[in-house]
Amino acid sequence: MLAVFFLFLCVSASTQGTPSVIIIGAGPAGIAAASKLFENSFTNLLILEAENRIGGRINSVKLGEKYVDLGAEYCHGQKGNIVYELVKDLNVLAPISSHFKPALYYSNGSRLQDSFTEELQAIILGYDDFETNSNFSGRSVGEVFTSRYNATIMKKYEGDAEKIKLLKEALRLAEKVSLMIDGAFSWLETSPVKHYVRSEGHQLLVWQGLGYRTILQVLMGEFPDKKSPIREKIRLNSPITQIRYHNSSKIVVTTTNGSYEADHVIFTPSVGVLKREKDTLFQPPLPEKKLQAIEALGIAGVMKIVLHFENEWWGDQDSIFTFLWGEEDLGNLMGELKWVQSVALVAKVPGNPGVLVAWVTGGLIPEMEKMSEDDLLKGCVFLLEKFLGRDYNITTPDKILKSTWHTNGHFRGTYSYERAGFEGATRYQSLLAAPLESPEGKPAILFAGEASNPAHYSTVHGAIESGFREASRLIKLYRKN
Ligand SMILES: Cc1cc2nc3c(=O)[nH]c(=O)nc-3n(C[C@H](O)[C@H](O)[C@H](O)COP(=O)(O)OP(=O)(O)OC[C@H]3O[C@@H](n4cnc5c(N)ncnc54)[C@H](O)[C@@H]3O)c2cc1C
Ligand SMILES: *[C@@H]1O[C@H](CO)[C@@H](O)[C@H](O)[C@H]1NC(C)=O
Ligand SMILES: *[C@@H]1O[C@H](CO)[C@@H](O)[C@H](O)[C@H]1NC(C)=O
Ligand SMILES: *[C@@H]1O[C@H](CO)[C@@H](O)[C@H](O)[C@H]1NC(C)=O
Ligand SMILES: *[C@@H]1O[C@H](CO)[C@@H](O)[C@H](O)[C@H]1NC(C)=O
Ligand SMILES: *[C@@H]1O[C@H](CO)[C@@H](O)[C@H](O)[C@H]1NC(C)=O
Ligand SMILES: *[C@@H]1O[C@H](CO)[C@@H](O)[C@H](O)[C@H]1NC(C)=O
Repeated sequence: MLAVFFLFLCVSASTQGTPSVIIIGAGPAGIAAASKLFENSFTNLLILEAENRIGGRINSVKLGEKYVDLGAEYCHGQKGNIVYELVKDLNVLAPISSHFKPALYYSNGSRLQDSFTEELQAIILGYDDFETNSNFSGRSVGEVFTSRYNATIMKKYEGDAEKIKLLKEALRLAEKVSLMIDGAFSWLETSPVKHYVRSEGHQLLVWQGLGYRTILQVLMGEFPDKKSPIREKIRLNSPITQIRYHNSSKIVVTTTNGSYEADHVIFTPSVGVLKREKDTLFQPPLPEKKLQAIEALGIAGVMKIVLHFENEWWGDQDSIFTFLWGEEDLGNLMGELKWVQSVALVAKVPGNPGVLVAWVTGGLIPEMEKMSEDDLLKGCVFLLEKFLGRDYNITTPDKILKSTWHTNGHFRGTYSYERAGFEGATRYQSLLAAPLESPEGKPAILFAGEASNPAHYSTVHGAIESGFREASRLIKLYRKN
């Protein structure tokens, strides 16, 4: 065993003789795979990234002195969470403060805060604790949630016309909250039988203005201020257009700028990219099982609008504002402002003074991502005035940033979800993770990325685990030989 290990080290010292690996995508999965391979002397690496930056769905943008995240923002959980494990001694992550409590506002400008609306809010925001089990097969989150809602709180207030009206209106907000978590465009699309495994501990840990990019620096050994040799292995602005894996002993990867050859390829782009490009990216085409996985996993998107204000008009009382639309106000919403109903909530960002983030969900996102920042800004101010104008002196933001995850062809969405109607014994994330073999039976194309993680899909920690998983697959393959 020891001898084999030394032999391996000798061979890898010069890149000649080490297997060559191309990693497609420099998001957390790709960077994690590269780091682990590099640490294990697989230095014959190339990372091809379509965007002009690394990070993928981690996109920390500098706003003033601090970073704000247009993509991943929170570390969800501690125990068994690789992100938390990697940084727990670095004093960079902190649990969100306990007065991060949502305030519920109604479209007539009143804050709703009696015992009834608190009960209502607990049900809506408690969506994440929503029980899932296999008895819900063949149904959707929307159906199961609504029937539970009808049978409990609607039943309880039966006969009280005013409360029933509010309860019916609140279902729209409930859907938006569910879509923030699942990233679908409709809750009739998402399966109530979920396989996501939560990591215990604080569910919302934040980077306090450092940005989620910190985890990439930690992975590459750059934290706090070193430069990693992995940087030199990354080619930005290099979208791949085809991977040929059967005709010769090498795999040929074609980009818009030229071709590269390797012994192995690790593919990390989103399931959204796969849905669009599955028929052209792979030669020979993907096997049926892989296509089934791509079908069964959904991805659509949420949108973030980051607003910066000179003054924090919201004070330090409230941290999250949620918006409940009355039926009449919704009906009166005119053409070009119709989209403002898609804003699920607006939240403070710990560590970013002066910043509020609007979280947008639902099927209007493709249009909204194409709107001008000016129009988005006007709509956000309208919304804030309408709901909060009575309690706060709203000012106009001096900066705005918007995300475009759905429209961007290198993502086509934000995070994967399990689609309604695809329940059953098959774990589609595992099907997605299975490598494609070369004619000699070796793993040729390996698949990583959040959607290939059966327990922690849709998260950064899930993406990193998947990158480590595929790097280990190659490391084991060569140790064995
Ligand atoms: C708005 C938003 C909020 C989120 N919030 C959280 C959160 O709070 N907590 C959390 O844990 N997770 C969150 N996530 C999810 C998390 O960001 C993702 O799960 C994770 O980044 C996925 O990493 P990945 O490496 O699998 O994929 P990606 O990050 O998508 O990386 C894949 C890379 O492949 C590149 N690529 C695509 N096509 C090609 C091509 N043809 N050629 C070459 N390169 C290509 C892409 O540009 C990208 O860089 C959020 C995501 C978004 C968008
Ligand atoms: C706004 O609507 C809520 C809920 O129906 C009601 O309790 C409140 O009195 C209304 N406020 C005003 C100013 O009309
Ligand atoms: C599923 O339904 C059956 C029959 O209605 C019931 O006995 C069982 O407890 C349910 N399972 C779960 C996990 O709720
Ligand atoms: C819930 O009740 C509403 C009427 O208030 C009805 O339209 C809807 O179909 C019910 N949904 C379910 C899933 O029972
Ligand atoms: C490559 O392999 C495919 C089958 O996988 C075959 O159809 C094609 O003709 C081969 N091309 C060359 C140049 O050998
Ligand atoms: C690839 O080509 C694009 C333009 O077609 C260019 O912007 C980019 O820098 C090139 N990338 C590399 C790695 O040469
Ligand atoms: C808003 O401005 C008015 C007029 O300047 C002032 O009287 C009021 O106290 C302010 N309200 C808040 C919540 O700051």
